[in-house]
Amino acid sequence: MKILLMGPPGAGKGSQSEKLVRDFDLTSISTGEMFREANRNNEPLGVEAMKFINKGELVSDEITNEIVRKRLLKPDAERCFLLDGYPRTVEQAKALDEMLDEMKSKLTAVINIVVDKQAILERMVGRRVCKSCGSSYHLSFKPPKVNGQCDRCGGELYQREDDQLESVKNRLEIYESKTKPIIDYYAGRGILRNVNGMQSFSEVYEDIKKALGEVA
Ligand code: AP5
Ligand code: MG
Repeated sequence: MKILLMGPPGAGKGSQSEKLVRDFDLTSISTGEMFREANRNNEPLGVEAMKFINKGELVSDEITNEIVRKRLLKPDAERCFLLDGYPRTVEQAKALDEMLDEMKSKLTAVINIVVDKQAILERMVGRRVCKSCGSSYHLSFKPPKVNGQCDRCGGELYQREDDQLESVKNRLEIYESKTKPIIDYYAGRGILRNVNGMQSFSEVYEDIKKALGEVA
């Protein structure tokens, strides 16, 4: 399975991909997570990327395409992968097609999680993320067992700087103008499925599995 998980910021891509990756043994490729990890490791690429990310702006297509190209060429991405947060512009979608062509590979499913704006704001304001492993929680909808501590690894939970209101507004505008047009880009291929993200975590998950069963 080669899956692309789409949806606006805060739609639940990361939450759903955590479980999909475990259950279906997929290689997770999240560009946002790759940039944040590079920053945690003090790599120049990550430090530079965070200047854009914290303001809610996109990292350049050139840099983003390059890190994805390198990641897709690793052996663990050959059989199956799940892309979360990439592509995010039509230019990136075209670049991904070229990469997959070169690898004689192709996407099997594009899942688009649909949520309304009010839910997005609530989800992002209450989100907390583990500093060590990147697992995502919500103060009301998915609280950790111990306040401020990751259930999986015991790491410290923090609020992403781009979850501040100003950055969130920017991210939503950019989603509308740059990322949403990708839905049309994939629409004609018969592998795109919309999933209602305005349900519980497990209901969304079940609908994603159903959609995958139709196309993958
Ligand atoms: P990225 O990390 O990809 O962020 P995003 O797309 O904005 O999405 P989020 O991670 O904010 O949300 P999500 O959909 O994963 O939701 P989550 O599951 O966490 O990218 C960050 C930045 O990196 C970008 O803004 C950009 O600057 C840069 N970047 C990344 N990729 C790039 C690219 N390709 N090109 C250029 N720049 C790029 O859920 C959110 C919250 O809601 C959580 O608290 C969760 O617990 C809760 N929640 C989830 N589902 C439910 C539910 N069903 N019910 C109740 N609560 C829920
Ligand atoms: Mg995410």
